[in-house]
This record gives sequence, C-alpha cells and structure tokens, in this order.
Amino acid sequence: MIDSVRVRVPAKINLRLSVGPLRADGYHDLVTVFHAVGLYDEISITRVGAGSGVSAQVAGEDASAVPVDDDNIAVRAVREAAHRARQPTDLAITITKCIPVAGGMAGGSADAAAALVGCAALWPGTLRADDLAGIAAALGSDVPFLLDGGTMIGTGRGEILTPVLAQGGFNWVIAVSDNGLSTPGVYAELDRLRAGADVPPPSGDDALLRALRAGDAKALARRLHNDLQSAALSLRPTLARVLDAGIELGALGGIVSGSGPTCAFLARDRDHALDIAVGLTTTGLVRLVRHAAGPVDGARVIA
Ligand code: C5P
Repeated sequence: MIDSVRVRVPAKINLRLSVGPLRADGYHDLVTVFHAVGLYDEISITRVGAGSGVSAQVAGEDASAVPVDDDNIAVRAVREAAHRARQPTDLAITITKCIPVAGGMAGGSADAAAALVGCAALWPGTLRADDLAGIAAALGSDVPFLLDGGTMIGTGRGEILTPVLAQGGFNWVIAVSDNGLSTPGVYAELDRLRAGADVPPPSGDDALLRALRAGDAKALARRLHNDLQSAALSLRPTLARVLDAGIELGALGGIVSGSGPTCAFLARDRDHALDIAVGLTTTGLVRLVRHAAGPVDGARVIA
C-alpha cells in the first residue's frame, strides 16, 4: 500500500468554443475542441493519521487566491472519490500551482482531475474509469477532459468527449494577465451581449479538424474561434491590445483562452514561440508569458 502519490496535470485551451443559448439549468450547450497544453499543476495526496480529516495547502503562483477549505474543487474531488471508494478521508493535499488562477485555462478543474487520478492510485481497484468520469462530470464541465488530455471535442456542457485525431504537436505562447475573470461572469456577459438575438445551437468546424489531422499550424491558426472572446473583451477591453501585440509579433493566430483573460498564440515552431514570448514580455501588457506545447496527456501519476 502506498502512502503518498504525486500527480501532474496540464492546463487546457479551447481551439474552438461555440456556445449555444442559455439552458434552463444555467449552463450553455457547447461544441468545443479542448487541447491540453504543457503548463502544469502538481498535486500530492498523503495518508495521515486516523481522525485528521482532509487538509489542503496551496503553493506556487497565485497560491493565496486559491481556497484551502471545501470551496477547493480538489478537496471536493477527494471527498467524493473517498465516498465512492469507501475509504477514509484522512488525507493531506498539497497543490503546487503553475496554471493561472481564474485564467480560462481550467486550473481548478485540472486540480480536481489530478485529485481523482491520485485517489485511484492510492486505493487500487476501488475506482473504475467510469467512476472517475462520473465524479469528474459532476464536479465541473472541464474536469472529464483533464482526466485524459490530448485533443478532444466536448459537447453537452463540455463533459461529453470524443477524441480528435491530431498529427504532431503545436507550439503555443500563453500570455497571463494580472487579474482573473469569473467564468460565470463571462458567460453572463455573453448572454447580455446576445440578449434579444436568436442564438443558434453550437456548431463544430470541419476545417479545424482537418487542420489538426494534417498537423498544419497555419491552417489551424485560421480556424481558432471562441464565442466567449467578445464577452471577455467586453469585460476587459485591454485584452484587445494583448491579442494585437501577439499578431504584430508574428504569431500565426491568437485567441482568448476559454473565458479568459489568458490569451494563447500559435507559433510556427518552438523557436518562433520563444521569440514571440520575449516580445510579449517586453510589451508590459501581461503579467507573465510562457511557452507551452500541445497536445499533452491529462492527469498522470509521476511518483
Ligand atoms: O462546470 P463549471 O462549474 O466549470 O462551470 C462554471 C460556470 O460556467 C457555470 O456555473 C456556468 O455559469 C458557466 N458554464 C456555462 N455553460 C457551460 C459551462 C460552464 O454556462 N457549458
């Protein structure tokens, strides 16, 4: 029996995010293309003495912005997994953040996915893949994708997944802004901007899937699309300058990631990405800039 497990989990961007009308349950039907990129949080889960209960601590970038009580989605994930696996919840969780908090890259959902994968490793044979997928979907719309990673189409509210064939890899520049945006707030702003309009159901994009199959970065750049971008720009107009700066620096394409405010730029190759990253850093428009490759695997045990 192992006493401790360490799990690494990536961030996601949405290569396409098509948002349908507001549903009665407060969510929106989506057709999205999730793409896991190599910007990672790490979670360790350690058994502690009986009666200690669940504790969490958070280290790394933005650590102070992450709750350590039951508002923490990784804590909720561990409680739910323990309940399903009939295991004691005497566990200490440590989360080391590198994925921006409230950045539109599913950092919280990633931590939840990592916690589920960690629990499955701590308690072998107690949690099947479909148990994990069920708990993940109940925790949040992006959590199921981060169990698997890679590149996948998400439908429903994002939790119904179909793998996408993607050849080779892509090089991204991730530009992280100073203050986060609330995901429900960005969806609400989109509803406000669309008020009175006849909103069509969400749709896919065959040309995007062809670009992924061909591993063609230029074609992919032309097909990047995010319905939430107008809402994020409406709430944070300065993001338009970040998007312009990335394109002026030679990026093939740029997009707000999910509900923002993080922006993702597609480069020709790694060197091109590093050049754009240096250029974006010197603009002073963003808090930090990272290079990240995609697609990468989802939550995986590393120790
Ligand atoms: O599923 P998750 O908890 O990550 O969603 C956070 C919020 O984002 C929801 O409460 C909802 O306001 C919005 N959302 C949505 N439609 C989706 C996914 C999320 O409206 N498909």
